[in-house]
Amino acid sequence: MFRRSLTLSLILPLSLMLLALMVVVSIDRAFARVPEFRLITIGLIGLLVAWIPITLYFMIRRRILSPLRELRQKFQRAGKDRLEGMTQPAARDEISDVVGGYNQMVNALQGERQERQRLERERLLQSQMVALGIQADGLVHELASPLSALSTLAKLAAEGDAESAKLMASETKNLAERMKRFMALFRDRKVAVRPVMLNTLVSDRIHLLNHSQVSFVFDPPADPIEVLSDEVLLAEALDNLLKNAGRHARAKVTVTAERNEGTAVVTVTDDGPGIQAGLVDKLFRPFFTTAEGGHGLGLFVSRLWAQALGGQLDLASPRHPALGGASFRLILPATRVQE
Ligand SMILES: Nc1ncnc2c1ncn2[C@@H]1O[C@H](COP(=O)(O)OP(=O)(O)O)[C@@H](O)[C@H]1O
Ligand SMILES: [Mg+2]
Repeated sequence: MFRRSLTLSLILPLSLMLLALMVVVSIDRAFARVPEFRLITIGLIGLLVAWIPITLYFMIRRRILSPLRELRQKFQRAGKDRLEGMTQPAARDEISDVVGGYNQMVNALQGERQERQRLERERLLQSQMVALGIQADGLVHELASPLSALSTLAKLAAEGDAESAKLMASETKNLAERMKRFMALFRDRKVAVRPVMLNTLVSDRIHLLNHSQVSFVFDPPADPIEVLSDEVLLAEALDNLLKNAGRHARAKVTVTAERNEGTAVVTVTDDGPGIQAGLVDKLFRPFFTTAEGGHGLGLFVSRLWAQALGGQLDLASPRHPALGGASFRLILPATRVQE
């Protein structure tokens, strides 16, 4: 229809031009004796006739065809799972109504998609939580060596060694405490996935830690990052990283948050001693600790939460080139920015 009106916009003025030509010929004859006047009149009519189709052509192109072409491209992209809104044309006409309707549809679909993602992640997280509580493979593996120690102690105690009996009692208590702590991580967890502003969360967690000896430097990105996540689990994972960094740092911890191809990356780096080469593989195991009074569950559980939230946690660098200490990287799926 619009292509036709575009053709019409050319045919109509062309006929007009023909008509004008006839008028010009008549004028030419009528004013044959006044040449200046004849020339000016013909020139003016010629200009007017040329101006009308050009203006009409560009107007129709700008107001009708360009928005329609853009709309067609957006629909094609939507078919490839890339939903995008369109800029609303300034003029209020049928085209702007169509664009408005399209934008409403895009908004509704995006909202529905986010809700679907949220429910999907929540379901996944809940089932992982249950599976972990039951299986706890890592725990079984970690229990193997204290259990064998206990069995040796039990043999010695049975032969009458009082010291072994005493040790056995304290080891058993220790083991029971570990089990309790481990199971408490998964018990009664309610998972609630919703949009979380990462900048605010990171600032809040740093603020809550309230370190006096170590200074935490967080330079939040200008463009706020939103992640679809469980705020409680995410805060716990972050707290573990921040506390570890705070404990190992000499004076400074830097925290950064940035977008990287559909993900949000939080990096926590300290200026402490870093991680010895031999320990790199053990860091994320349950109960691995070098700290006096440490439980060795911080990194293990933080990685678990990161994975459950659709992300990952790893050691970015055992010795950061600039700060010298350990650098941990938490990667999370970021939501799309909607204009
Ligand atoms: N920022 C860090 N710098 C140096 N070593 C670290 C750092 N973070 C963690 N570690 C090492 O990883 C071990 C395990 O950490 P974690 O799982 O949080 O347990 P915990 O803090 O109870 O020891 C720590 O005992 C320490 O050896
Ligand atoms: Mg810790």
